[in-house]
Amino acid sequence: SSGAVRRADGAVEVGGVDVRALAGEHGTPAYVLDEADFRARARGFRTAFETAFAEVGAGVDVYYAGKALLTVAVARWARAEGLRVDTASGGELAVALRAGVPGPELGLHGNNKSDAEIDAALAAGVGRVIVDSLAEVDRVATLAAERGVVAPVMVRVTTGVHAGGHEYISTAHEDQKFGLSVNPGPDGGDGPAMQGLLAVVARPELHLLGIHSHIGSQILDPSGFEAAARVVLRLRADLAARTGVLVDEVDLGGGYGIAYLPGEVPLDPDRVAKDVAHAVAAIAADLRTPLPRFSIEPGRAIVGPAGLTLYTVGTVKPVLVTGDDGGTFTRLYVSVDGGMSDNIRPALYGADYHAEIVGRTSTAAPVLARVVGKHCESGDIVVHQVQIPGDVRAGDLLAVAATGAYGRSMASNYNLLPRPPVVAVADGASRVLVRRETVADLLALDLG
Ligand code: LLP
Repeated sequence: SSGAVRRADGAVEVGGVDVRALAGEHGTPAYVLDEADFRARARGFRTAFETAFAEVGAGVDVYYAGKALLTVAVARWARAEGLRVDTASGGELAVALRAGVPGPELGLHGNNKSDAEIDAALAAGVGRVIVDSLAEVDRVATLAAERGVVAPVMVRVTTGVHAGGHEYISTAHEDQKFGLSVNPGPDGGDGPAMQGLLAVVARPELHLLGIHSHIGSQILDPSGFEAAARVVLRLRADLAARTGVLVDEVDLGGGYGIAYLPGEVPLDPDRVAKDVAHAVAAIAADLRTPLPRFSIEPGRAIVGPAGLTLYTVGTVKPVLVTGDDGGTFTRLYVSVDGGMSDNIRPALYGADYHAEIVGRTSTAAPVLARVVGKHCESGDIVVHQVQIPGDVRAGDLLAVAATGAYGRSMASNYNLLPRPPVVAVADGASRVLVRRETVADLLALDLG
């Protein structure tokens, strides 16, 4: 975590708490969340976007994307920093509501929401349901009618812009499950996005708040946001020309990329806010339409760098490896007490992380190491490649940085490992936000 510091005596502190004390008190593996860092990033996004969009005369709401990590305390931190909360399931919605986030400050996403999820959202009076298909327009309208409410709705569209990593591409067609394409239909008539918007406008049980676009995740080049905004604002103008309805809001989604490794450069919220604000102002001027209110949904960029995972080293095994050139080298396999069950991202996406021994200092020469978990498959990798002091040994405390997003939220019980706790640190004290699972918890689910 950017909040972690190594003191002169080698001790590493996060949130003012020595990681050895954290391990002693809470055990390992453990997810450690730096509250001040989370809050600073939440605040940073809000002020960056509010300031930049105010300059062009537009308002902005920042929704924290709960899919990255949602606990009651995390939702409260987000709200305390002036963010709203984006949820993508009934479970996320329930946690946000338990945190006391008012319904109007919540959004509900999902490409296959159940009636129960939609109804729970309507019961809570959520600020927006983001509809993802034509069929869902009807379902939300029916459920709203049953409740006697008018549901505030955004239509999620796909713009042909896909971003993530370093490049974005514009494609002529979409081949993925999310949203409604802005492309015309096969006969050259209205495409799915326009059909969805018209369907919402036609339903008295629905209020069309706006248009939503999410282009990808771990984006490091802001130009994809501008390209998507251009398509969305044009669609908004087309809808206004067709129906007289000029929607009030445009959501540009999440996806702001972070640094996972030392030396990597994250997307700077101030810069992207300025770039996007100026771009949308120019686009709206071209289209001769007033600017809408905007919203964004960052998840990873707020919670990712605020989290680290603490592990204890177990088996250490040198393995002689034959390289592509036929030569051999030694790779030190460093096993820890967790693995792909607490962080699936290396196995699933080939994601890279950085690890350090944090319980002590070492003057031993660094060696090429791979940090692996305790699961029964060889793809169970925590860090593919890292230089670690050669005297690494069982009992060492190892920290993996930037695991706050999509670690705990994608955790599993593979091999029936209980999931680690989420421990918050702030001002020199730690507090358990989500307790460690136990084998008893797992046995309780098994009815025999
Ligand atoms: N809004 C929508 C509609 C989304 O689908 C997502 C992410 C976000 C916001 C938040 O994106 P973020 O700012 O966190 O990048 N499990 C993957 C990431 C999947 C993201 C899915 N949607 C990972 O671990 O990299």
